[in-house]
Amino acid sequence: MDNLKTGEVICKRRKELGLTQNQLAKSLNISFQAVSKWENCSAYPDIEMLPKLAAALHTTIDALLGYESVVTDYDRRYNTQEYYWGLAPNRICYDIMKLLPPVRPYRVLDIGCGEGKDAVFFAKCGYDVTAFDLSEQGIEKAKRLAEHNKVNLKLFKADLFDYRPDTEYDIIFSSGVLHFIPQSERKELCESLKAHTAGTGINALNVFVQKPFITRAPDHRRDEKKRHP
Ligand SMILES: C[S@@+](CC[C@H](N)C(=O)[O-])C[C@H]1O[C@@H](n2cnc3c(N)ncnc32)[C@H](O)[C@@H]1O
Repeated sequence: MDNLKTGEVICKRRKELGLTQNQLAKSLNISFQAVSKWENCSAYPDIEMLPKLAAALHTTIDALLGYESVVTDYDRRYNTQEYYWGLAPNRICYDIMKLLPPVRPYRVLDIGCGEGKDAVFFAKCGYDVTAFDLSEQGIEKAKRLAEHNKVNLKLFKADLFDYRPDTEYDIIFSSGVLHFIPQSERKELCESLKAHTAGTGINALNVFVQKPFITRAPDHRRDEKKRHP
């Protein structure tokens, strides 16, 4: 993985923690314009600011300076030969197929496709699939899975915090991802997804929830609530 510039590291970590530029600025007693300048790489934080900034972003000064590659938790989980989520498609994929069978290559967008099991399944069934994930490791494994299954699909790394569809899809699918987006941004996101769904299309989105009567997700972490309010 290429080393990121300091501004890019700050931006990435801030978003991973679900913080706005304003919130980060407030916690450091500085203006949001200063944060914005760091993030667009037009200024560097002062040396005295680095320890405070590293603490606020739950990272190290080395990582801020680009000496350590910043990997997501999922990069770590996906960094194995085995497929972390297995290879069987999510049950929802079958429900989607019943609603919109692939009588023609319907366009599918898989948001947060992980290692690509569902995206590749849809492609094998004849859908025209676009899929992305924040994890570079995930995308690499999805590409290998697609190759192994001899299917073509558009796979790329993107961050749902920034990415919005720029074309229409018949099916917008996402499994276990949207809870990473802070509540304040979900309405705008859902509106954008709706606006990019064909008239006869469908949205199938599932999320992890915190309910005592529902079994914990396999990747549940104690600090999940704190990180993703
Ligand atoms: C629970 S996993 C689900 C993966 C896949 N949908 C599946 O069911 O196998 C959550 C996925 O969301 C991705 N993710 C988390 N935050 C993201 C973001 N901001 N943008 C894009 N993907 C994100 C993670 O990298 C991870 O692959």
